[in-house]
Amino acid sequence: MIKALVTGSNGQLGKSFQHCTLEYPEFDFIYKDFFELDICDENQLGNFFKKNKVNVVINCAAYTDVDQSEVETEKAEKINTNAVGILSDLSIKYKFKLIHFSTDYIFDGTSNKPYVEDSPIAPLGVYGKTKAEGEKLILKTRGNAWIIRTSWLFSPFGENFVKKIISLSQKKNKINVVSDQIGSPTYTLDLVRDVLKIISNRILSNDPKILHYTNAGQTSWYEFAKKIKVLCKLNCFINSIETDSSKA
Ligand SMILES: NC(=O)c1ccc[n+]([C@@H]2O[C@H](COP(=O)([O-])OP(=O)(O)OC[C@H]3O[C@@H](n4cnc5c(N)ncnc54)[C@H](OP(=O)(O)O)[C@@H]3O)[C@@H](O)[C@H]2O)c1
Repeated sequence: MIKALVTGSNGQLGKSFQHCTLEYPEFDFIYKDFFELDICDENQLGNFFKKNKVNVVINCAAYTDVDQSEVETEKAEKINTNAVGILSDLSIKYKFKLIHFSTDYIFDGTSNKPYVEDSPIAPLGVYGKTKAEGEKLILKTRGNAWIIRTSWLFSPFGENFVKKIISLSQKKNKINVVSDQIGSPTYTLDLVRDVLKIISNRILSNDPKILHYTNAGQTSWYEFAKKIKVLCKLNCFINSIETDSSKA
């Protein structure tokens, strides 16, 4: 059995892991959210790992409110940077593999080509900066870690763009969506199943590694919203706007 701790287990990605539990009988999952295991609390983590010999920690805990991180900078740093450093150190001390998730926000978004693992990072806002610093701590401490960068997550769980468009369509006739931001929407259950396959096949190396994972293809938020409208048979008008006008 592979004993796996999933932190931040009540978030969108954490719930996606919970959803797949029964598909992977070779795993013994322990799910913990903030109130049961705070990844910023080194003592709490230490006590947990002393009592529980885990093979892998899947870190779904994060501060993910991009706009609010500009206000709660310190909190975002504690969760997205400092706590990741602690987990990385503990991965060496307690000999577990750490699967950590990162984001496209570590890039500045100006490239016309898809970003690859060694593209230079240049985060613009606090969320991206704190996530980028978390990555750096893993690489610096040479934790037993895989950093999986993903983007535009959607799923039946938590908060995401698909659910937002569906909910807005019930309140508004017209929804403004930006058409000048391009990305790759990623279904969390695809991500979860591939991560669990990787762990299950024991193809994790000892050195820290960065991996980009998204679903295939690319689109704008506007085109994505139009597709959601068609597939979910929504009764609303999707209006294309530019990012600059959305901030006005
Ligand atoms: N969502 C996306 O589109 C997206 C895209 C790219 C990468 N990612 C990355 O994917 C990962 C998962 O994202 P997500 O969408 O699942 O985020 P999420 O829905 O916001 O879930 C994060 C979870 O972490 C918990 N948490 C916060 N602080 C914690 C702490 N100190 N200790 C333990 N748990 C804590 C949160 O609890 P509370 O709700 O109680 O605070 C929440 O349950 C993150 O690393 C994120 O950066 C997400």
